Amino acid sequence: MYIDKSELLGTAFRAAMLAGDVILKNIGNISEKDIDIKQASDFVTYVDRESEKIIIQTIKSKYPQHHFFTEESLKEEGSGEYRWIIDPLDGTTNYIHSYPVFSLSIALEFNREIILGLIYDPLRDDLFTAETGGGAFLNGKPIEISTATDLANSLIATGFPFRKKELIDEYLSLFKNIFGRVCDIRRAGSAALDLAYIACGRCEGFFELALSPWDIAAGSLLIKEAGGIVTDFGGGKDYLSTGNIVAASPFLHGALLNEVKGVFEGIIDR
Ligand code: IPD
Ligand code: CA
Ligand code: CA
Repeated sequence: MYIDKSELLGTAFRAAMLAGDVILKNIGNISEKDIDIKQASDFVTYVDRESEKIIIQTIKSKYPQHHFFTEESLKEEGSGEYRWIIDPLDGTTNYIHSYPVFSLSIALEFNREIILGLIYDPLRDDLFTAETGGGAFLNGKPIEISTATDLANSLIATGFPFRKKELIDEYLSLFKNIFGRVCDIRRAGSAALDLAYIACGRCEGFFELALSPWDIAAGSLLIKEAGGIVTDFGGGKDYLSTGNIVAASPFLHGALLNEVKGVFEGIIDR
């Protein structure tokens, strides 16, 4: 069944506002007893779970037949046409420390293609949205990728590979090579926001490895709809399944990808 994209986005918006409230209300309230460790350096709190519950409930009450692929609770294979991919709190480590950089991310697949993306930063009340063929928006205003053409003037975002610490030497040589060519590098701690910031030109490029689909599903659509390019480490389209991602404007993506390949070719090829 085909559903109008603006109706779907309206539902995602309502879910994001309700979850954003939960996130805002609980800042500064996280103590050690509220933190569960999923794996080394990977945490979950009652806020992640609450936020996810509200998002799922809001969407399910409107579309009971839809499938879900969410960070904390539901990993449905999605034989149905519509599947929502949800990160209820991106930047949990920041959130635990009251470090004010975090977001939530909601994407929707239709027959395995991402057709809608929403990233919400409740602290700044920044709402990023995109739908296939409809452009990308920040708080309802159209956004575009940066027009910078020179890496030397570029601000690049990244994330450290804390789930793949065995690759730290390769990551650090890539960091060094890129750092030598760009204006500066940021590690803010929310991959979804990193991608949203590229879409609206707040920074020029992004690279990170071993992310999950819920970190990048919405952000990758935002960037494409804002005129940018998103690939895996080999320059292909497998970033959602591999979690290895290079994103930038068409002017800079080739240069950034070459740096990534220069270090990771033969180690990570997609
Ligand atoms: C994390 C953030 C972080 C990235 C991690 C992600 P989470 O998401 O996006 O920037 O470096 O790899 O896991 O765990 O806070 O949802
Ligand atoms: Ca995440
Ligand atoms: Ca999360």
